[in-house]
Amino acid sequence: MFEALLDRAAAEPAYRQLYRRISGAVLDGTLTEGERLPSARALASQLGLARGTVEAAYGQLAGEGYIQGRGAAGTFVAPVAIPAAAVPAPAPRAGRPAAPAGRPLPFQMGLPALDAFPRKLWTRLAARQAHALSPLGLVAPDPAGIASLRQAIARYLAVARGIAVPPEHVVVTAGFQGALGLITRLLDVGDQPVWMEEPGYFLARAGLVAAGARVVQVPVDAEGLDVAAGMALAPTARLALVSPSHQSPLGMALSLPRRLQLLDWAASCDGWIVEDDYDSEFRYVGRPLPPLKSLDRAGRVLYVGTFSKTLFPGLRLGYLVAPPPLTQRIAEIAALLGPLPAADAQATLAAFLAEGHFGRHVRRMRQLYARRRAALAVELEKAFGADRVALGAGGMQILLRLDGAVDDLAMVEACRLAGLGPSPLSRAYAGPAKRRGLLLSFTNLAPEQAPAMVQRLARALSVPLRP
Ligand SMILES: Cc1ncc(COP(=O)(O)O)c(C=O)c1O
Repeated sequence: MFEALLDRAAAEPAYRQLYRRISGAVLDGTLTEGERLPSARALASQLGLARGTVEAAYGQLAGEGYIQGRGAAGTFVAPVAIPAAAVPAPAPRAGRPAAPAGRPLPFQMGLPALDAFPRKLWTRLAARQAHALSPLGLVAPDPAGIASLRQAIARYLAVARGIAVPPEHVVVTAGFQGALGLITRLLDVGDQPVWMEEPGYFLARAGLVAAGARVVQVPVDAEGLDVAAGMALAPTARLALVSPSHQSPLGMALSLPRRLQLLDWAASCDGWIVEDDYDSEFRYVGRPLPPLKSLDRAGRVLYVGTFSKTLFPGLRLGYLVAPPPLTQRIAEIAALLGPLPAADAQATLAAFLAEGHFGRHVRRMRQLYARRRAALAVELEKAFGADRVALGAGGMQILLRLDGAVDDLAMVEACRLAGLGPSPLSRAYAGPAKRRGLLLSFTNLAPEQAPAMVQRLARALSVPLRP
C-alpha cells in the first residue's frame, strides 16, 4: 500500500505527505491498533526516499499518538486514546479492517471515564436483580420510581448534598432531560418567559424551546447568573434554570449573595428555580459546594440530579426533588407522559447505591479525574500558554480560550478530521455576543496520552507549539 502514498509532483514535502496518509489511514481504520509498520529504513528504500524523511514523518506521527516505537520489536499503530478495554472493538468485516467507528474521541464531552467503570460489578448486580425477579416485579413500577431507589437517593442526598428529604419526595426521572420534560409540563411553560443562563447548557435551552417557553437569555459573570439582569429583562419569569455548583459551561459557582437574591426573587413573584446539579461530585479544590436547594426556605427550588456523569449517560437515570405540594402532580404527569425509567435498571442502581459502591466509585473517579485534569492542563499550558487555559475548580473538562475572531465551529471540524472530539464554546450561547473556545473533556485521557493528544490538537488548530 505504501508505494501509492506519495505524489512526487506535489509541492507538499514528502514527509508531510507520508504523515498525512498514515494518520488518515489510522483514523479511517485502514491501519488498525497493533499493526506493524515497515521500519523507516525499509520504507525509505521502498519509496526511494532518504531515511531521514521517513523518520521525520514517523517522529511526528509518534508525537501525536498515532504510532508507537517499541524498540527492536518495531513501529506499531498505537492504541486509540479511549482505552480499548473500555470499548469492545467492532467485529472485523470481511476484506477490510474494522474502522474504530462509534468509539468516543479524545476530548469528547459528556462522558465519564469509560475505562474505569466497574462493569463486572454492575453486571453482577444486574444479574442478581434479574434472578430475584418475582411475578410482582413484572408489574409496571411506581411512575415516581421504585421504592428502594427513592430511598437510596434520599439517603445519598442527605449525606452527600445536605438535602434532607423523605423518599416519597424523590421522583426518579429519565436523567436531567427527563426531569426537564416533567417540569415544563408541570409548570406549563408554553409562551411564558423562562430565564436561562447565557451561555448555558444547549440541550436544556433546546428543551425549553421545544416546550414552547419564551427563553430569556440572562448573562453570567464571575459570580454566576446575573440575577439583577434577569429581573430587568423579565421580572415575572415562570422559572429560572441555573447550574449553581458549577455553571455550565464556564464553571464558576453561583455566589452566596446571588443565591440569596435568586431565592428572594422567586419567593417575591411565585417564580420557580430549576437547579441543575449535574456534576457537583467532581470538585478538585476545596469541598463540594452545598446546593441551592439546601437554602430553599420558601420551597421554590426544583432540584435535579443525574447519574449520567457519575455512572454513565446510557443509564438514563436521574432524580427530581420538588417542593412537597408539587410532588403528587409530578408523579401523575410521569405516569401519563413518562418516559418511565425501566424497573430493572432502577433496581440495579438502588443496589449499587445501598451497598456503598456508588460512594466508593465517586471517590475513585474524583482522584482519577484530578490526575487526568492536571496532566492535560500541564500539556495545554505548554502548548498554548497558561492564559488560554481555564481550569475550573471542578467538572470534567478544561476550557481552551480562543481569541474573539476565530471560528471555533470550524476548529472543531478540523479536530474531528484529526480524530479528536472537543466541543465549541460558542454553541453554548444563544445570542450574538459569543466567546470562543474549545471545551476539552479529560475524563477519558490517561496522563501518558496527554502530550501526544495535545500535540495533535495543536497541529489540528495550526497553532505553533511553544518551544
Ligand atoms: C449541564 C448539564 N446538565 C445535565 C446533564 C445530564 O443530562 P442527562 O441526565 O439528561 O444525561 C449534562 C450532561 O451532559 C449537562 O452537561
